[in-house]
Order: sequence, then C-alpha cells, then structure tokens
Amino acid sequence: MIPIQNPHIAIIGLGNIGLPLAIALGEKYRTIGFDIDTSKIERLASESSSVNLSFTNTIHTLSNCHIFIIAVSTSVNQEGNPDLHHLLTATQSIAFLLKKDDLVIYESTVFPGCTEGLCVPILEKISGLKFNIDFFVGYSPERINTADTIHTLKNTIKITSGSNPETAQRVDELYRSIVEAGTYLAPSIRVAEAAKLIENAQRDINIAFMNNVATILTENNISFEEVWQASSTKWNFLKFSTGLVGGDCLPLASQYLNHLSDKKDNTLSVARQINDTLPQTITNLVFAKLQEVFPQNATFKILVLGISYKPNTPSIKGSLIIDLVEKLNKNKAQIAVFDPVAEPNAIVNINSLSNNHQYHLIIKATNHQIFENLNYPDFAPPNALLFNISTFSFSSLR
Ligand SMILES: NC(=O)c1ccc[n+]([C@@H]2O[C@H](COP(=O)([O-])OP(=O)(O)OC[C@H]3O[C@@H](n4cnc5c(N)ncnc54)[C@H](O)[C@@H]3O)[C@@H](O)[C@H]2O)c1
Repeated sequence: MIPIQNPHIAIIGLGNIGLPLAIALGEKYRTIGFDIDTSKIERLASESSSVNLSFTNTIHTLSNCHIFIIAVSTSVNQEGNPDLHHLLTATQSIAFLLKKDDLVIYESTVFPGCTEGLCVPILEKISGLKFNIDFFVGYSPERINTADTIHTLKNTIKITSGSNPETAQRVDELYRSIVEAGTYLAPSIRVAEAAKLIENAQRDINIAFMNNVATILTENNISFEEVWQASSTKWNFLKFSTGLVGGDCLPLASQYLNHLSDKKDNTLSVARQINDTLPQTITNLVFAKLQEVFPQNATFKILVLGISYKPNTPSIKGSLIIDLVEKLNKNKAQIAVFDPVAEPNAIVNINSLSNNHQYHLIIKATNHQIFENLNYPDFAPPNALLFNISTFSFSSLR
C-alpha cells in the first residue's frame, strides 16, 4: 500500500462537505478538488492561493492520485427511496482511474451496506481490480452542519472505517492528521454508515415528537411553550424544540434507515409523516386562531418571516416554509413573505417592511438574527398575533 506520508488526494464533489475537506487536506497534502459544476471550478480556481490545492473539472487530471474521497450529494426520490445517481456516477468516473493500492473513501450519506454492496462492485467491474487485494475502501461520514460556525470539521470528532483492519488504520490516520478533535475508528464500514444515520434520525424523531405534542396541546388551548418550560426542569428531559424540518440531512437519514426495514410503518415513518405534514397542521391552527380573534373578518393579512430552512443561512434547500406558504395561500388570506437573508427565490414577495404594511398575523418561520431588530407593533393592527414556530406559541403583537 502507498504510505500515508505523501498521499496525493482527490476530492470528488465540492459542496458544503467536499470543499472544506479539500481546503483542510490541502493544508497538508497535494490535493485536487474535482466537480462537474464548471462555474464552481472556475470560481474556486481563480480564488485559490494554496500551493498544494488545485481544482479541476477534468477527471483525467486525477489519474496520479492514490486516495479518492467522494463527497457528492445523495437524496431520496418521490417515493422516498434512496436516489444515489450522483454517488454511482462519481464512483464510475473514478473507477476508470483506479490503480493498484489505491484507496477510495466515501463521505456521502448512504444506507448501511451501500459502500460495499453497490459502490465496490462498480469499482471492481470498471477497473478490473480486486477489492481488498488491489484496491481498498473507507467510509467516514461528515458531521458538519450548514451555517454552523461552532461545530467545524477540525473541532468535531470524525468517525472513520475501512474495508480491512489495515485500511481502517490508514483512513483513521489520514483524518487524525487534519481533525484536531480526533477520530473514532468504527469496527466496520456498515457501523460507520449506520452511525451517521441514527445521529440525524434521532433528531428528526425528537422534533416530530415535539411537533406532535405541541399540536395536541395547542388544539386544547394549553400553551406548549409553558408546558415545555415546566417539563424542562426535570434532569432527563430532552430539550428539543418544535420546527419545520428542512434541508436534506435529517429527512434523508430517517428515510435511508427505513429503507433497510421490512416493516415500513415504524417510528421513523411516523416521524417523517408528522414533520412533513406540519405546514398543513400549522395552517389549520393559525386559521382557527385568526377566526377566534377576528370573528368579523372574511379575509386576513399574514406575514411569513423567513424562508431559509434554518436560521442565518441563505439556503432554502428542502425548506418546508415553501410548502407552508402554499398551504396558507389556499385560504382566504393575503400572504406576504419577507426574508432578507435567503438566496433569491420566487416565493419572497416583499423586500422591506414598512408601517404601511399591517398584518393580522406574523408567522416567525425562521429565527434569523436580523429579525430580532424588528419592531413588531409597527406592522400590527389591534389584536394582531405572532406565531413562533420554534416555540409553537401565539402571542399578542401589541
Ligand atoms: N450539508 C450538510 O450539512 C451535510 C452534513 C453531513 C453530511 N452531508 C452529506 O454529504 C454529502 C454531500 O452533501 P453537500 O451538502 O456537500 O452537497 P452539495 O449539494 O452542497 O454538493 C455536492 C457537490 O457534488 C457535485 N457533484 C455531483 N455529482 C458529481 C459527480 N458525479 N462528480 C463530481 N461532482 C459531483 C455537485 O456539483 C456539488 O458541487 C451528501 O451525501 C449529504 O447528505 C451533508
């Protein structure tokens, strides 16, 4: 096997996960970042000042590399089954370049068994090389979080694994050299694949539980926020909040885990169903409340604050707020959406707030820091309401 001392590394897929990894590895090793997105490569190549790190969209430029790390996106299709086409295409591209003693490490989120059961046969077939004799495979899931500046690649323990004990050590040594917090060497690739999924599915299920109890309590005129405050004084109460689960990490994890299960109606699918239907649940709750507070009104003006799938990020990837706006629009109401942080999109329809705008209800959908400075009474007629999705609470705006 090629010794770790002077590896030549290729990173395939330079998104949220691949790019920071390429930068960290490029601080120590000769590293080439590859992506099929030509404009991204042009931008990165023009901005890069590192001697060890280069960028390309020509796959043959990677032919001298010994370690290939795949960090392309994975998703689910309309039926909720894994959509691995980027992963399998990337695997095919590098299979043509594979040489004796090369190492292929997967970082993309996959279901347990995917690396050895689906990717390795493609690598063997196209390269003509034998797995665990001529080439080796590792899996190291990523834990960093879009828009999270506290938990980074370097300060978060990274799970590592390999296709045999020697490869596992080699993968572990590589990541230990860039992750200051250290690594956790899992006993097998399948364990590492599954560990990533249960970390995220656990959050998905706990948020679903909060969404579920918050709905029940709100329908019974009991404040979820007050109940939560009371319950959270117990030492082992888990302090999850309610919320619209967007992005792709959490939903993907529950669906990939469920992909392995024979019995599809389980905790994972119930959680997914509760979280995915929350836009309709919130729509029902807020219209019931508006009718109670403004019984004379035939129509309402509603402002939705925030469309990004989480606070302080421009990303609207998988944002359920888009679905919420669609559901609200089916009722007798004028819906305005304001988000100065989100990337440009067709849903945000006001660019600024002024006191010419008056709303019966403001829904705080994303807790962007910038919204802390808003003076809500400026936009609210008497009796107007605020509904905060992260606490599931109604409050008076003035
Ligand atoms: N974003 C997160 O916070 C996060 C956290 C943990 C794990 N993950 C997982 O990591 C993986 C990558 O996620 P991401 O957020 O970085 O995705 P992303 O969409 O930001 O980036 C993926 C990149 O891969 C490129 N790509 C697609 N097909 C390619 C191919 N065949 N060859 C080369 N490049 C290709 C795309 O052009 C894109 O630049 C996914 O499996 C995701 O589930 C993401």
